Amino acid sequence: MTSAGRFITFEGPDGSGKSTQLARLAARLRAEGREVVETAEPGGTRIGRDIRAILLSARNHHLLPTAELLLYFASRAQNVEEVIRPALERGAIVLSDRFTDSTLVYQGVGRGLGPEVVRQLHRIACGTLMPHLTVLIDIEPALTLERTIKRAEQDRLDAESLDFHARVRQGYLRLAAEEPARVRVLDGARDMDSVTEAVWPLLQEALR
Ligand code: TMP
Repeated sequence: MTSAGRFITFEGPDGSGKSTQLARLAARLRAEGREVVETAEPGGTRIGRDIRAILLSARNHHLLPTAELLLYFASRAQNVEEVIRPALERGAIVLSDRFTDSTLVYQGVGRGLGPEVVRQLHRIACGTLMPHLTVLIDIEPALTLERTIKRAEQDRLDAESLDFHARVRQGYLRLAAEEPARVRVLDGARDMDSVTEAVWPLLQEALR
């Protein structure tokens, strides 16, 4: 593991509110004088954002599951080398909106590609890098669907079935059961402020 800093990831279904939580917590940590680097996947770098555009474009509905898998890892490999590893090496706190756990559940479980291929690609793209803490914001797909439908534009993944999103949620919960020390589950159906207050002590613990 690359070490001086702390690597914290935020996971959850689309519309779970994780991005809002990440931004709030980043601001709070900075107010305490900490160096915080925010990143997101797919994205995080200029090349990553170009890859993100391909992944989310509703026009690419025929993107093959294997091509999709490799694109997520292409974006991640670039993000790890360009942003995450250098920040951790200088002792910063890196907050990432999604990381390999997303691929484990969306492609591994949702698309049925299985965990092994995802883990192999993780080793190639990220080596032994793993989050110190993963905040999983859990919420029922039916509730998030209401939130994502309100967005102006539907992306390629918003168009997936409720069944796909239900498999993703189960995949996340299984992951948390397998790694309870790293993956901490919070109830995303509560209001944003309560979730922020629940995440804060988890962050403090991870930063100790
Ligand atoms: P976002 O809306 O949280 O930025 O995520 C973009 C979409 O990409 C979201 O539907 C989840 C999906 N995704 C995967 O399917 N696999 C991955 O590895 C990542 C990082 C995201």
